[in-house]
Amino acid sequence: MAEIITAKTAGFCFGVKKAVDRAFELAAQSSGGRIYTYGPIIHNDEVVRRLEEQGVVTLHTEEELRSVEEGTVILRSHGVPKYIVDLLEEKGIEYVDVTCPFVKRIHNIVFEKSADHNIVIVGNPAHPEVEGICGWCLKKADVIQTSEEAEEYQPPEPLPVCVVSQTTFNLNKFQEILAIFEKKRYDVNIVNTICNATAQHQGEAREIAEAADAMIVIGDTKSSNSRKLYEICKEVCDHTFFIQTVEDLHFPDGAAYPRIGITAGASTPNYIIEEVQKYVGRIF
Ligand code: F3S
Repeated sequence: MAEIITAKTAGFCFGVKKAVDRAFELAAQSSGGRIYTYGPIIHNDEVVRRLEEQGVVTLHTEEELRSVEEGTVILRSHGVPKYIVDLLEEKGIEYVDVTCPFVKRIHNIVFEKSADHNIVIVGNPAHPEVEGICGWCLKKADVIQTSEEAEEYQPPEPLPVCVVSQTTFNLNKFQEILAIFEKKRYDVNIVNTICNATAQHQGEAREIAEAADAMIVIGDTKSSNSRKLYEICKEVCDHTFFIQTVEDLHFPDGAAYPRIGITAGASTPNYIIEEVQKYVGRIF
């Protein structure tokens, strides 16, 4: 019988797990009142579909949110700008804020610091998390993501600078950018707000793949963090399989792997991981 090693960090990170669990809980408790999520709760079609089956409606735009008159709105783990919370309060719409505490911490930092600092957010300006962080600054923040942008940065006001990062930003890149700020200015206040869930996830996947004869990575093909896990595992384990569900798993004829590793992208629900574990346990 093969030894199966499943990564402890496989699947949802702490913040996403909390958000998804809460959404299912609210759907189950709902006594007829509509439940909405502002944006898909997670980038996984299967999870969104299951929630929809339980009556949860995904709102895709601000316009759709503005048209809600009653019910409960779930604010997902990426967080939202402050004006969205204000809007819901003004309209008297009930909401459940499942913003990840690590993201919420950034909101609190920029909200406070922006009173007497220029704010720089290191991250992708188009990402909803960064849009949310911008929306907690009392004045316009600058978003940068390259060393060139850091070199060119000019503070808009004669105030000290506070630098924070998107939670999933690459640590090495962040450090490069910080070095530029530290060289340029004596009055920078740097808060490293990178969440280490991603780094731990990748580190554990590599460790398991190194020791495994075959490695299975479960994730949506659209998910960039799943693909990244696949690449990391493939580098150290030739027999690495990238699958979306157990149905995609086809081992070559006659294959025998004494030790099989399993990991899964951050948007893969637990029950899909369990199905794969069971299947592999049955055939090897
Ligand atoms: Fe996840 Fe929260 Fe980190 S959503 S990646 S635990 S910031």
